[in-house]
Amino acid sequence: MSHQRKILVTSALPYANGPIHIGHLVEYIQTDIWVRFQKMRGHECWYVCADDAHGTPIMLRARQEGIDPETLIARVAQEHKADFAAFRIGFDNYHSTHSEENRQISHLIYERLRDGGHITQREITQAYDPVENMFLPDRFIKGECPKCGAADQYGDNCEACGASYSPAELKNAVSAVSGATPVEKASTHYFFKLANFEAMLHDWTRAGHVQKEMANKLGEWFEAGLQEWDISRDAPYFGFEIPDHPGKFFYVWLDAPIGYMASFKNLSDREGIDFDAFWKADSSAELYHFIGKDIVYFHCLFWPAMLHGAGFRKPSAVFTHGFLTVDGQKMSKSRGTFIKARSYLDHLNPEYLRYYFAAKLGSGVDDIDLNLEDFAQRVNADLVGKVVNIASRNAGFIDKRFGGRLADTLAEPGLFAEFAAAGQTIADYYEQREYSRAVREIMALADRANQYIDEKKPWAMAKEEGREQELHQVCSMGLNLFRLLIGYLRPILPGTAAAAEAFLRIEPLTWEALAQPLSGHLIEKFVPLMTRVEAKDIEAMVAASREDLKAIDAKKTKSMETTTEGHLAKDPIAADIDYADFAKVDLRIARIAKAEPVEGANKLLRLTLDLGGETRNVFAGIKSAYEPQDLEGKLTVMVANLAPRKMRFGLSEGMVLAAGPGGKDLFILNPDIGAEPGMKVK
Ligand code: 2FM
Ligand code: ZN
Repeated sequence: MSHQRKILVTSALPYANGPIHIGHLVEYIQTDIWVRFQKMRGHECWYVCADDAHGTPIMLRARQEGIDPETLIARVAQEHKADFAAFRIGFDNYHSTHSEENRQISHLIYERLRDGGHITQREITQAYDPVENMFLPDRFIKGECPKCGAADQYGDNCEACGASYSPAELKNAVSAVSGATPVEKASTHYFFKLANFEAMLHDWTRAGHVQKEMANKLGEWFEAGLQEWDISRDAPYFGFEIPDHPGKFFYVWLDAPIGYMASFKNLSDREGIDFDAFWKADSSAELYHFIGKDIVYFHCLFWPAMLHGAGFRKPSAVFTHGFLTVDGQKMSKSRGTFIKARSYLDHLNPEYLRYYFAAKLGSGVDDIDLNLEDFAQRVNADLVGKVVNIASRNAGFIDKRFGGRLADTLAEPGLFAEFAAAGQTIADYYEQREYSRAVREIMALADRANQYIDEKKPWAMAKEEGREQELHQVCSMGLNLFRLLIGYLRPILPGTAAAAEAFLRIEPLTWEALAQPLSGHLIEKFVPLMTRVEAKDIEAMVAASREDLKAIDAKKTKSMETTTEGHLAKDPIAADIDYADFAKVDLRIARIAKAEPVEGANKLLRLTLDLGGETRNVFAGIKSAYEPQDLEGKLTVMVANLAPRKMRFGLSEGMVLAAGPGGKDLFILNPDIGAEPGMKVK
């Protein structure tokens, strides 16, 4: 190894209030492959991460569960770590932004920015929840769209008509936390003067530290002008108090990227690494951040500016990737494609997903698609059919006929040299994050190795007299080719590689060691290194992911009933459905035989619905709009094939359709002419 590089690598810090899902895994797998590759090359490479533990959503989630935020983040950290370990994401350290190291470095950076004249303060007015006594982030305010009037719109854009507006423009706005009407309230906020760094950032973003697509995007932001960034939040807030301003806290996004440094500090203290050598302004070490394209502004503008302003080095590069789609669409809870890491692990081998993502990943920012059918085919054809197959085709003979000992010389040194020489191209692809190209190269070699065995036909040699030595040579050659393939795949398939290393009785493979073949070497009996992906396992995983949705729904329904208004933040993943799903809805005419109030529920009526021979008990949230006695005897339309749901007040066996802005203006359907209870509605 000529030149040993010092490299520090990070993946984005996941929020400590939700599970890891396969969308997250694209990034952790992409990063982990790169890190494992650098380590195999003999570089000093450290991979750190942490939970992103601060902010309003985490504070409110803990409150909702009736626990301290500290208890919540400790539990989630355990879950995250277990998921990452199972996917063999090889962090050298996994820390938390709610840590002493992070508090200290956040203070230090803030103080240096302040003393450098990069922090300013001014009073701003924001929505305030007078019941909870807290300022409301946009996503915790809901109301009617000012353009089209659609109800239940959160934040600053309407899902119904697509309009953008300021949350203050929402009509009949309520706090999603308490249901109260927000009031406007002023308070002092602290701002980071990003524009002070405009010239530096302009140069930096054009000097090869970000991908071309991102440099273009950043160009648009420069044109729009760099605004001051609000870095403070008022109490109550789960985060770090600002040193010279009690009652004010750092906004979660201020201390989140500093969490990269804090995690590395924690590691440095434990391992005796020179922290400053990696972070000082003139550091010769390399620093890389892998991120998703939704957080580019933070990592390519705020973060380099903060580092620079506080006298630290800037990233060598920020590597941005695209989003994950499943079967060509956004992950969807209703389709069962919103797959949690844990649900995947319950059914499938993590090595499959690592391989599939690698086979799809390039250095660009395009979205990647997990096509579940292609996934099974690809893993089975490539890994089981080509790579593992080479070992299984040769290992038996070595074991049974040659006492587990490989031949002393190579049958085809030329072929081996060809395989070894391919290592340079493959290494270049890994370095450039062109994993799909690396995989293509490696699979071409695997084809070549299988072709060699096909031509030599060891199974035929084994049956003929006097061909012992030839058989020994060919099978040893086959296993040496297998060793190279596994070495090249090792960053992608660490688990399979470890099993192969045990089988071959070799030290963990390094890139340098690969070119030296194994001869006269004793190996273990072969055990299958990987089994085929079974369609039924994928189906079970998808089904289980749909189950998860039911659990979530049940939880939501429950808290909706027990409090005033829907006070859960809107789910960021849209559960869009196909027409085919919609067509399954069985709408029937029903006669409201009985309507009565429900004790303890201020929005519900209990309806007894007559479906022409069958009666159903249904709870409907229409009390604000109808007097029970006015409903009795009327015809309406119900969803007749909705799975029964257990509610606090009893079982609800269907749903009555009603629409309107809410309150008094809520209307059930009122079919009349020719309608008979039980009739299907078209
Ligand atoms: O977007 C997110 O999920 C953030 N938790 C990422 C933070 S990355 C870093 F800056 F901490
Ligand atoms: Zn609208």
